[in-house]
Amino acid sequence: MPFCQSRVAPTRWTASVAGALVIFAGTMSWSLLGAQAKTSNDAVYSAAQATRGQALYNEQCAFCHGDDMSGGSAPGLAGGEFLGFWNKTPLSDLLEKIVGTMPAGAPGSLTNAQGAEITAYILQVNKFPAGQMDLPDDPAALKAITLAEPTKVAATPVTPRQTAAAPAGKTVKDSVYSEAQATRGQALYNEQCAFCHGDDMSGGSAPGLAGADFLGFWDKTPLSDLVDKIVQTMPASAPGSLTAEQGADITAYVLQVNKFPAGQADLSADAAALKAIAIAK
Ligand code: HEC
Ligand code: HEC
Repeated sequence: MPFCQSRVAPTRWTASVAGALVIFAGTMSWSLLGAQAKTSNDAVYSAAQATRGQALYNEQCAFCHGDDMSGGSAPGLAGGEFLGFWNKTPLSDLLEKIVGTMPAGAPGSLTNAQGAEITAYILQVNKFPAGQMDLPDDPAALKAITLAEPTKVAATPVTPRQTAAAPAGKTVKDSVYSEAQATRGQALYNEQCAFCHGDDMSGGSAPGLAGADFLGFWDKTPLSDLVDKIVQTMPASAPGSLTAEQGADITAYVLQVNKFPAGQADLSADAAALKAIAIAK
């Protein structure tokens, strides 16, 4: 799935909110924290730690994220887009993302110390300076260090955010759902999704599901990714409770609200069929 820096993304979204919360909390404690608050430009990891992280990365992460972190079947972890997305979020969010959800095949298998080592290596590859001390593996300590854009990197290449092969077939512009299906999806949406994503999908406590940001984020990914996201992780309050058909119905409604044309046939709930339809801006 592609990522785009202004985008409020599945994982990134939580990151930016957490970042915002830190700043809010900061109205009270920022002055206290001020003295210690650091960014990734402040030599917050050691070269030795990054080397340990590199070994772990090569073994457990490179085959999805690319040998040089430029991406592969998974998004890149280096470059302008990655940094733009994580910019100003606390490093604790990145650690949590890594330790809590990676490696995608075996989440939960890394210790915090290993997560910190890999994070150190990510900082190194992103050209942040190394220092004397290891990056702490304590989330509370990492909360006080925010990721920043590197001070001296000019024109960092934008990493392609494609995580799945771009489907060759249709796009959502090709009338891939029916009105009746969208209406069924609307009922489900209003009942199960609207209170977090907004009545009109413009967002609320959760990111919006309509508009340029949303489409920019999902642009060129197969529709199966969006349906999977919905069926496997939503509603956030009860993931796994939707059937594949309900996921397809809600997706039809998402397409309708995003002003894609309806056609005669329903959007299929079949994963292979959904893979052949690309989301387009
Ligand atoms: C309790 C609040 C809540 C409910 C209810 C909920 N969501 Fe979400 N949803 C979230 C949050 C928070 C995120 C962002 C984090 C994530 O991606 O997991 C999200 C992310 C998403 C995304 C990814 C958005 C993006 O582009 O990054 C989709 C699609 C989505 N939800 C669809 C749904 C659908 C469809 C329903 C109803 C079946 C639903 N959600 C119900 C909270 C909720
Ligand atoms: C089997 C493939 C796979 C492996 C192995 C894997 N990842 Fe991922 N990773 C993904 C995919 C797919 C995503 C995008 C979806 C998501 O954010 O969960 C991702 C997302 C991420 C992100 C968030 C990127 C961003 O900018 O939003 C980080 C950080 C990350 N992985 C780190 C790691 C690390 C560190 C390892 C090794 C310990 C690892 N991953 C191993 C597939 C993988």
